Amino acid sequence: MIETNSSLKAFNTFSIEAKTQTLFHFNNIKQAAELAALVKEMRAADKPVLILGGGSNILFCEDFSGLVIKVELSGVDIKESDSDYIVQAAAGEDWHQLVTNCIEKGIDGLENLALIPGVVGAAPVQNIGAYGTEFKDFCESVEYLDLNSGEFFKLNAQQCLFAYRDSIFKTAAMHSALITKVTMKLSKQWQAHSRYGLLKELDSSAKVTAKQIYQSVCQIRSEKLPDPELLGNAGSFFKNPVVSQELAAKLSALYPQMPCYPQEDCRVKLAAGWLIDQAGLKGTKFGGAAVHQNQALVLINENNASALDIVQLAELVRTTVKEKFSVELEHEVRFMGCRGETNLSEVIKNVRA
Ligand code: FAD
Ligand code: EPU
Repeated sequence: MIETNSSLKAFNTFSIEAKTQTLFHFNNIKQAAELAALVKEMRAADKPVLILGGGSNILFCEDFSGLVIKVELSGVDIKESDSDYIVQAAAGEDWHQLVTNCIEKGIDGLENLALIPGVVGAAPVQNIGAYGTEFKDFCESVEYLDLNSGEFFKLNAQQCLFAYRDSIFKTAAMHSALITKVTMKLSKQWQAHSRYGLLKELDSSAKVTAKQIYQSVCQIRSEKLPDPELLGNAGSFFKNPVVSQELAAKLSALYPQMPCYPQEDCRVKLAAGWLIDQAGLKGTKFGGAAVHQNQALVLINENNASALDIVQLAELVRTTVKEKFSVELEHEVRFMGCRGETNLSEVIKNVRA
């Protein structure tokens, strides 16, 4: 179904009012050829194209002047071998619902990734992660529709170039690949991942189950993170910065309690939430936007914020952290301008022009 001049407010978890010129509901794989033709038409007219899932990692900075493809493909198929379960899910399936259904069926593995909003098709894009596991740990393959050719392709996990909050779908394949289906392999030799953060408390119980981890993850997340249904947000606004060993050592000497996570490449990941918190920014407001009181890494739409309120608050956070710690924060949330993807520096430049 195609709509014109449609509101995107219900389709982004910041609940920002923005309109798109054209909205295509992609709910049947048989629409692929029609969709590819529409994309071709849009590109010929120099109009931008955006693939949209649940809108839980997107900030619409202004009205969108092209085509938004809302991915609503459905269907789940589960097979098993002696050693594994093979879970195939269409891109429009709700991620958390899939995790919950697997746990209820005794198919374990995805429990640490419970309660992450959004749809299955977005999971590979930034390689979603939480509580010590990432999508890449279970990914077997990702199928996509090439919007330029109208053909379907499949990448194995290695070809997806997964990294922390990154994949080929944010780089080389960004403008062409519409993910249609993902396949995950969940071993029957399940192993608990409960050594991360607050989940460590579960370690005292010798026989922790996947269901217990699932319940703990849901409880911890519900306590720390605002529910987008009640308070607009897009989860962590910034990525955790990875800095040089020298800078990490300098900061650790000044702030011995600062969380540090050494990486394989000798660099060190810092906790952006801690830096923002220590910069005294919790609760800071700009217009209707605020830094969340329970988790400083989350910016919220507290009181009818405009996109520019959120953008200007994000800039205040970025510059304050830079001044205090010499650490550059990079936003995780994807910024959409009227002509397609943009970023914090660009939007701020335009605001000040
Ligand atoms: P959208 O926001 O709609 O899209 C995100 C990006 O993926 C866009 O660039 C879009 O173009 C692209 N995209 C979407 N679908 C497709 C597709 N089918 N094919 C190609 N590209 C596509 N993330 C984490 O990693 N870990 C967390 O713990 C976490 N916690 C969160 C908690 C809250 C309260 C919120 C609001 C967000 C959280 N997030 C977290 C961020 C977000 O939920 C994830 O990034 C999620 O995968 C986004 O899914 P979505 O369907 O909403 O994607
Ligand atoms: N911290 C503070 N103050 C704060 C927030 C955090 O001091 O206001 C400290 C915590 O005490 C802890 C450290 O910072 O020592 C890390 O905090 P937390 O464990 O809450 O996780 P995070 O690093 O802030 C990351 C992901 C989340 C994911 C959680 C759990 C990123 C950018 N964020 O957050 O993902 O759910 O770990 O694994 O990597 C998302 O990407 O949207 C997201 C929510």
